[in-house]
Amino acid sequence: MKSIRHLLARKGNAVQTIGPDASVFEALESMARHDIGALVVVDDEAAVIGLLSERDYARKVILYGRISRDTRVRDIMTTGVLCVTSKQTVDACMALMTRHRIRHIPVVENGQLSGIVSIGDVVSAIIENQQFTIEQLEHYITGSR
Ligand SMILES: NC(=O)c1ccc[n+]([C@@H]2O[C@H](COP(=O)([O-])OP(=O)(O)OC[C@H]3O[C@@H](n4cnc5c(N)ncnc54)[C@H](O)[C@@H]3O)[C@@H](O)[C@H]2O)c1
Repeated sequence: MKSIRHLLARKGNAVQTIGPDASVFEALESMARHDIGALVVVDDEAAVIGLLSERDYARKVILYGRISRDTRVRDIMTTGVLCVTSKQTVDACMALMTRHRIRHIPVVENGQLSGIVSIGDVVSAIIENQQFTIEQLEHYITGSR
């Protein structure tokens, strides 16, 4: 199975981030503009300090009667974010997402944010890998006739 490095080589390393003191409204605008479901929250040194997802908004703003323009990202972000390195396999990443019920994992190399992987990326890579295996088997069967 391919590594996260292979996945990022196709998808790209760009990561949309936001600071902890930005408003939740600004975060939502950024997610809508980039058509993504999560932002990595970074401090002034660009270290990962949290993750803000659409789920955080749904569970911690609307349900608590908060107002997105008056709420800081730091107040609702998820902390203790699970990260992977580019050396980890796509399968291992899928296992982490399933076990921890998360949909986005930042990729960190030597303490530096170097990418992000979502559940859609992982599923897509796994389907592609299965398709490749099927084609190999078809070649094998056809060739052995
Ligand atoms: N065909 C594909 O290869 C593919 C890949 C990923 C997602 N999708 C589809 O997109 C939809 C939503 O995807 P999702 O649930 O995986 O989450 P998502 O909407 O958050 O992610 C969509 C894409 O944006 C990227 N992304 C997310 N947050 C980012 C950030 N902060 N900075 C930079 N890139 C970021 C993801 O890595 C992914 O490639 C689903 O319908 C899914 O099937 C398709």
